[in-house]
Amino acid sequence: MTAAKTVVVTGATRGIGRAIADRLAHAGWRVIGTYRRDRGDGDRHPPLAGEIAPAPAIAFVRMDLGSDASVGAAARAIAARAGRLDAIINNAGTTDDGAFLAMEEGRVAALLQANLFGTIRLTRALLPLLRGGSDASVVNIASLAGVAGKEGQVSYAASKGGLIGFTKLLARRTSRTGVRANAVAPGFIATEMTGMLDDDMVRHIVHGTSLRRIGEPADVADAVTFLLGARYVNGTTIKVDGGFKR
Ligand SMILES: NC(=O)c1ccc[n+]([C@@H]2O[C@H](COP(=O)([O-])OP(=O)(O)OC[C@H]3O[C@@H](n4cnc5c(N)ncnc54)[C@H](OP(=O)(O)O)[C@@H]3O)[C@@H](O)[C@H]2O)c1
Repeated sequence: MTAAKTVVVTGATRGIGRAIADRLAHAGWRVIGTYRRDRGDGDRHPPLAGEIAPAPAIAFVRMDLGSDASVGAAARAIAARAGRLDAIINNAGTTDDGAFLAMEEGRVAALLQANLFGTIRLTRALLPLLRGGSDASVVNIASLAGVAGKEGQVSYAASKGGLIGFTKLLARRTSRTGVRANAVAPGFIATEMTGMLDDDMVRHIVHGTSLRRIGEPADVADAVTFLLGARYVNGTTIKVDGGFKR
């Protein structure tokens, strides 16, 4: 019997990260998820673990991407728990929308710190744990906003565009590290992040989407699962946007 592969999924408590963690746990992966908000439940997250049967190998580590100290502590905790890794899914992220010229630089910097610098810092710390030469891989969850830009999302679009560039850098190192790197750029996916959109906006999005529906977290998990097993795909960004026409 081959040993289970181990994957880190950041932001695994809800939304897209949760769908990815669920999918991989069901597929037999040993999952180490991260969460940010203090749920007072130590390093396990009962609702998620309780919903998956038979008992999956899911463990949780607390991490706030906005804090260098927290990212460092999380990386050490992951190393202690996992030893070696087979994949990293950099999913955790947040948004802070507002008019470009009116947005204070501190807000722009805070968002870049969390979505981009924090993710780079974590990846740099975890990269040596990845098993080179055994089809290890990194998948970064970017955004359509990082591919095409989006009005009102200056820091978010910059952070996600930066993640796509970071993905390409990682992919170029594959010949040395044996680690593939790819990104997924979701369009509009039904999660807490997009829960504040009003009905008019949702109708507008659905109308502009050739598949005529908003995406589900499971749609993004499909693409992540594909990339983890796609041994000749490296340095690419897959749009998961239902064919959104801008
Ligand atoms: N939903 C969309 O339409 C959409 C579209 C394109 C890209 N994305 C990207 O997909 C990823 C997941 O989004 P989602 O829609 O699932 O969002 P979500 O429901 O808001 O979940 C975000 C996850 O990231 C974690 N997180 C947020 N800020 C963090 C920080 N500073 N440090 C560590 N963890 C943090 C959250 O942890 P807590 O629960 O502890 O707060 C949560 O687990 C994000 O990177 C997002 O930018 C989403």
